[in-house]
Amino acid sequence: MEILVTGGSGYIGSHTVIELINFGYKVVVVDNLCNSKIESLKRVEKLTNSKIPFYKLDVRDKKALKKIFEKHDIYAVIHFAGLKSVSDSIINPTYYYDVNVGGAICIMQLVQEFACKSFIFSSSATVYGNPSKVPIKETFPLCAVNPYGRSKLMVENILQDMLLANTDCKIALLRYFNPVGAHVSGLIGENPKNTPNNLMPYISQVAIGKLDKLKIFGADYNTSDGTGVRDYIHVIDLARGHIKALEYLENNQLLIANLGTGKGYSVLDLIKTFEATTKKKIPYEIVARRKGDVATCYTDTSYAFKKLNWQAKYKLDKMCKDTWRWQKNNPNGY
Ligand code: NAD
Ligand code: UD1
Repeated sequence: MEILVTGGSGYIGSHTVIELINFGYKVVVVDNLCNSKIESLKRVEKLTNSKIPFYKLDVRDKKALKKIFEKHDIYAVIHFAGLKSVSDSIINPTYYYDVNVGGAICIMQLVQEFACKSFIFSSSATVYGNPSKVPIKETFPLCAVNPYGRSKLMVENILQDMLLANTDCKIALLRYFNPVGAHVSGLIGENPKNTPNNLMPYISQVAIGKLDKLKIFGADYNTSDGTGVRDYIHVIDLARGHIKALEYLENNQLLIANLGTGKGYSVLDLIKTFEATTKKKIPYEIVARRKGDVATCYTDTSYAFKKLNWQAKYKLDKMCKDTWRWQKNNPNGY
């Protein structure tokens, strides 16, 4: 019995593959490498001393994907494969819907055809839009405000419809907050193809000297210091949340859970912690707000703790330290 990990050579996927193997699961990876390199999996193999079956394919290519289901005994699917840039999704919405929704449908059809037991989907805190209060509970109204967010919400809805029609496959919708950090070895980490959009990889590229300075998008929010507040979660904690979700689905039909730490940190908090843990200065300037940003976003952790007996254990300084080790050891990524 194997776990099929789509998008397994990407940032969250590669860290989750390590944890799955460490927990004794057998893993098969598919990825079209549009936003990752095969080197990440080679390093995962080195770290876990194992051989990972890998297939370079597009999850929208159902014919190719079907062969993987025929060849392997797929018990569960963890579906990471997808596109994740909000700004790109606004520029090219049909492409985003094609990959994120079309790709997910392809996999779901095969999951049904081959009677797989569980399906875990990478959703996002973005499905809550601009929440009226924090911390965010899973029961809050859903309101995606851009094509990326809507693609996540569409897949969530389709999966729940599938559950109603096919009670055999159990489903987890995991809404990630802000994954950061890297494996403690410094061998794998986040590897943005172009200039990063997200804060932590941007900061680490400033620290290594690839970028001049950070632009802080707004210091006039209604937060402690005026900058945006987010719930940063170490990618290894996040990966372990997937193991807990797999276990939960052994005895339950549906899980909808936020995965975050429950603590909000501002942009300035993150800069200060990064500087203190790495002894690198992060020059910055304050610029206008970024369109679509919310002031504050962090989760209520009680549901995930109650249902999964899971909570994030790593703190912000460890997230910065591990990010920096990865960046320093791999200044040009993989
Ligand atoms: P990533 O880009 O590093 O990983 C995604 C992987 O999917 C990449 O390896 C890419 O090559 C692959 N992929 C993309 N389209 C594909 C296709 N059509 N066929 C096969 N493979 C394809 O991104 P990540 O940060 O690891 O994110 C993983 C998932 O988690 C995504 O679905 C993303 O939307 C979701 N998510 C990420 C974040 C975040 O901040 N990183 C937050 C919330 C949700
Ligand atoms: C962004 C996406 C979100 C997606 C998530 C993970 C937007 C509006 N939101 O979330 O949908 O799920 O990434 O991919 O794009 N910041 C700066 N300067 C920078 C970068 C960021 O000041 O160069 C600030 C932002 O304004 C925000 C915080 O840092 O306050 C975190 O930003 P980011 O890492 O991009 O994450 P989100 O905005 O939470």
